[in-house]
Amino acid sequence: MPDKTKSCECEQETDQQKFARIGQIIDEYKDKEGSLIQILHLAQGIYGYLPLELQQFIAGRLDIPLSKVSGVTTFYSFFTTKPRGEYTIRVCLGTACYVRGGKKIVEQLQEILGVEVGDTTPDGKFSLEVMRCIGACGLAPAISISGKVYKQVNPDKLQSILEKY
Ligand code: FES
Repeated sequence: MPDKTKSCECEQETDQQKFARIGQIIDEYKDKEGSLIQILHLAQGIYGYLPLELQQFIAGRLDIPLSKVSGVTTFYSFFTTKPRGEYTIRVCLGTACYVRGGKKIVEQLQEILGVEVGDTTPDGKFSLEVMRCIGACGLAPAISISGKVYKQVNPDKLQSILEKY
């Protein structure tokens, strides 16, 4: 039986070891079609985010310009160049949610958390992001917190939702 009291080994992995692991992934994927996106996905999974030094490392190993890597990183919202907090709050700004007050929810969260969209609270607890439709349009506006969806959110409800975390 595995010893569950031991923390995961990857928590103790150094940056150098993470880069080495990402290097192996690059070697494995580099000749496959659409490899850059896959590599960036896996690299973000290992490192947690895609800082400039990691983008430079990937560009160098793939022998492509850094601008190509940073272009993909900034184009897709699921890539992040900053470390994410423990919980990621995503506010839906799809049409239904936008019309029913999504933007107000964003403004209120910015005020409560004291951060702008794309940033993380200083204590590392929450990151704030926006996204397109999360499939709850009938009960808009909706937000998700680390994957859990909250529907018909209003300013009062917001505070009690955050208190759960
Ligand atoms: S537009 Fe927000 S859930 Fe669809």
